[in-house]
Amino acid sequence: MRVNAGLEGIVVADTEISHVNGEEGQLIYRGYDVKQLARKITYEQVVHLLWKGDLPQQKEEDSWTKIWKEAYELTEEWIEFLKIIPKEVDMLSSLRSILATLDEPASPPTMAQAIKFLVSVPMIIAARYRLLQDLSIVHPRKDLSFAANYLYMLRGEIPSTAHVQGLDAYLVLTAEHGFNASTFTARVVTSTESDLISAIIAAIGALKGKLHGGAPLEVADMLEEIREVNRAEKWMREKLENREKLMGFGHRVYKTMDPRAEALRDVVQKNAKNEPWFQFAVQTEQIALALLKEYKPHRQIYTNVEFYTAAILKAIRLPKELYVPTFAVSRTAGWIAHILEQANHNRIIRPSARYVGCKDKK
Ligand SMILES: CC(C)(COP(=O)(O)OP(=O)(O)OC[C@H]1O[C@@H](n2cnc3c(N)ncnc32)[C@H](O)[C@@H]1OP(=O)(O)O)[C@@H](O)C(=O)NCCC(=O)NCCS
Repeated sequence: MRVNAGLEGIVVADTEISHVNGEEGQLIYRGYDVKQLARKITYEQVVHLLWKGDLPQQKEEDSWTKIWKEAYELTEEWIEFLKIIPKEVDMLSSLRSILATLDEPASPPTMAQAIKFLVSVPMIIAARYRLLQDLSIVHPRKDLSFAANYLYMLRGEIPSTAHVQGLDAYLVLTAEHGFNASTFTARVVTSTESDLISAIIAAIGALKGKLHGGAPLEVADMLEEIREVNRAEKWMREKLENREKLMGFGHRVYKTMDPRAEALRDVVQKNAKNEPWFQFAVQTEQIALALLKEYKPHRQIYTNVEFYTAAILKAIRLPKELYVPTFAVSRTAGWIAHILEQANHNRIIRPSARYVGCKDKK
């Protein structure tokens, strides 16, 4: 019996949702290269693609937009519930608690029910964020897009077009990424014929771990510690000499530059190229890549999505404590796509383990 720790290299299902091509650095959502999608389509359109199999046609746009507009409703019950959650409870745990109180959509959910559920994620995060800041709650506006509404509910003012476009590009690029830990968790829960809300709550639990959702925070901390480009080489050499990792580099699947990192860098370059910190991030990246070649010549270590996630979220002035919750906002679309696919071709997921314990205790 051969053990594949971490299920690396094990194929457990067929999927039509996305393809991660690690050798060529390509990510495909239902036939479309994500690098072509970012900045061209909105999050609402990518959700249509992931859930329904293709981008909305012209004639479907109006009805699709209408379902989204009707979904926004921040209820007084949620606000009251958010108020009684102690301040020390972190954002993703608060999110899980509120989601657990929502009415369970039908199985399989209608598109309207699934969208209502999806938009509840940014509404809860924004409301919780404002309560923690002692600010009044901002209710969503039906005339704003998903990305604009999220920033509006956080800030209480209409965001700039550049910020909305930057956030939309981030949401599109991180909405889905194959059988990562949280998505796989959602599929395992669904495979037992459990409900959609339980599957999403379990996925959030997996995302919370620092090996999955927390890396952009670590990149932001690393860049803050380095501070100036002329300190970068010494700082990073010390880390590598101590056999520590440089945050924002390396990937289990991509053996070339992560396509999402490339696309995000282009977006930040467009919106913030004159910002000194952006020049600093790009120069630091180049120094890191040269050092990684020097220290790990036999490994293919390139920039990953988290490096430029930190840059784009900084460019749109999102506070650091919202980096991981905002990842949950985007990835909910991918989770729901996989929940629907798993439910449609279900077989309970039940791997085996090799027993290495004692067999003859008396
Ligand atoms: C993402 C990551 C976990 C992928 O891991 P992996 O493919 O399983 O590779 P491993 O952690 O086993 O590392 C393999 C080798 O590459 C090195 N390596 C990998 N990423 C590295 C990094 N960011 N900095 C320095 N060395 C790195 C390891 O030290 C190891 O070297 P060794 O062979 O001399 O021991 C890893 O690259 C990493 O921890 N990166 C930093 C954190 C990060 O950015 N995470 C977000 C991922 S999207």
